[in-house]
Amino acid sequence: MIIANSIAEVRAAVHSARAAGEAIGFVPTMGALHAGHLSLVDASRARCDRTVVSVFVNPTQFGPGEDLDRYPRTFRADCEQLAERGCWLVFAPSNEEIYPPGYETFVEVGSVAEPWEGACRPGHYRGVATVVLKLLLMVGADQAFFGQKDYQQSLVVRQLVADFNVPTEIVICPTVREADGLAMSSRNAFLNPTQRHQARALWKSLQLAEELCQTGERRTPILAGRIRECLAEAGITEVDYIALVKAGTVIAIDEVVGPTVVALAVRVGQTRLIDNHQIG
Ligand code: PAJ
Repeated sequence: MIIANSIAEVRAAVHSARAAGEAIGFVPTMGALHAGHLSLVDASRARCDRTVVSVFVNPTQFGPGEDLDRYPRTFRADCEQLAERGCWLVFAPSNEEIYPPGYETFVEVGSVAEPWEGACRPGHYRGVATVVLKLLLMVGADQAFFGQKDYQQSLVVRQLVADFNVPTEIVICPTVREADGLAMSSRNAFLNPTQRHQARALWKSLQLAEELCQTGERRTPILAGRIRECLAEAGITEVDYIALVKAGTVIAIDEVVGPTVVALAVRVGQTRLIDNHQIG
């Protein structure tokens, strides 16, 4: 497995693989890899000849007071897992490689980036869109793989790639969960045992919404209320948002009439957790 720190090394390696007729898959990450990230590597390997994974904790997508400094960094273990999984090249740039002195340009995605994470974390998607565009242009992959876990991020990336005519196909892969349903996340490591137990309520509440919908409850304010109650029963009362939207959009609906995404964000102690699930 190649470990590249510079853009030039990545470009050269990808250039020669493509010249040999190989298809390149790309998985952008911030490291601290878990089975969710590795499922994206598997998806890339299933569809492409060579898989590039970037490991870069992007400072511009963290707001002041967010967890940039304590974001887990486990680069050696990440590389071991990636090598085992058949990754071809790890791109691990420094902050200066991505944002050299004098860096001035940022990307602002429109309405899909505005609600939820966009509202709770001002500037977050500006940072995400900027780094994703830069990485996609650096790597020049045929396909890039993202997780449904970050539903709004996947919409932001799709919008970005369409609007800037980026010639990389975006593939969204299913959320990988722990045995008890908690969506895998690098931030789960911050939960103490009590909080980890409470966090099971996220998936439980999303499943409850699905059951209620299947048994005929279509009114979204009622469904959102039941989700809130389910979270509260587990002691989760700090809810940033519970949203029910038409799948593939951030447009809120009053009634479930077709494929619908339920998205939520909560705080368990100091840790912010998000999840989503398609119902309807
Ligand atoms: P990160 O949180 O490391 O996630 C990298 C990719 O893994 C994202 O596409 C995310 O949706 C996916 N992912 C995370 N948990 C998952 C799970 N449980 N199941 C399936 N996929 C999962 O998202 C980012 O990094 C950054 O914003 C990034 C896109 C790399 C830009 O900095």
